[in-house]
Amino acid sequence: MTPYAAALQARFAEDAPDVSHAAGPMVDALIGRKTVRRYTGQMPDEALLSTLTAAALSASSKSDFQQASILRVLDPAVRSTIGAMFPAMPWIGASPVFYVFLGDARRLQRIGELRSKPVANGTLEGFFNASVDAALALQTFILAAESVGLGCCPISVIRNRIDAVAPLLGLPDLVFPVAGVCVGYPADAGHVSLRLPRAATVHTDRYDDHALPGLLDTYDRTRDARHALTPQQQRNNARFGVAGFYGWSEDKARQAADPEGAAFPLYLRAHGFDF
Ligand SMILES: Cc1cc2nc3c(=O)[nH]c(=O)nc-3n(C[C@H](O)[C@H](O)[C@H](O)COP(=O)(O)O)c2cc1C
Repeated sequence: MTPYAAALQARFAEDAPDVSHAAGPMVDALIGRKTVRRYTGQMPDEALLSTLTAAALSASSKSDFQQASILRVLDPAVRSTIGAMFPAMPWIGASPVFYVFLGDARRLQRIGELRSKPVANGTLEGFFNASVDAALALQTFILAAESVGLGCCPISVIRNRIDAVAPLLGLPDLVFPVAGVCVGYPADAGHVSLRLPRAATVHTDRYDDHALPGLLDTYDRTRDARHALTPQQQRNNARFGVAGFYGWSEDKARQAADPEGAAFPLYLRAHGFDF
């Protein structure tokens, strides 16, 4: 099996129809990437980290507005305060390195002021553009880090405690976290997370999801055969009961039935956004 065929199997449980379509080691690595939550104690070199921020900030940027910013959390007291807010995710406080990727709608607003122009960037458009820029920078950072042997875990849960986290990081109005990211050398091999088959996620000419129910059933079974969720991992049995078969779609439906992040839109509206 070629590396491409192996990567497709691991990621999508799909056979490569024509291995000549393999695009090379970089694409194989992209298909095989994985989130890493356990790290060795080795601290990445500072010069390497600096290089990774250069890669991150080379990501595409909507209108060249450059509305991503990166904040490194170095202060051990701040690290442990943030870590203690999320005891279910001990990697947040424990990873060797922690950055926060910020959507930064403030800089463009300030540029308008400095150039005496009527820029009003606290709109949905400003928020969305800054969010996309920060997300692209985050993923570019992650892929660059993985290419040099590091492992990362994005951390959006910090937005659930935005009222506590933002002051700790000194965030002004119009600047908000898209996600933090834990960085370090992987302590174990980890595993590639199976994605939905592309028949469910790639469309041609017209959006068409009529096949979703059947594709979901197959996906749930395939995923369960690889990494079954244990009875202890079933969410919210008090509300939904114990499931005989508990697959990915049952888990995600239960997770989404308890929406998170209610504090975030309130925070944004109180800090410069007018949507
Ligand atoms: C925007 C974003 C936020 C995330 N936030 C968290 C988080 O708060 N905690 C966590 O443990 N993982 C977090 N993750 C990691 C996802 O759980 C992970 O990407 C997903 O399970 C798929 O696994 P994979 O990245 O290995 O393919 C986040 C991922 C993204 C893209």
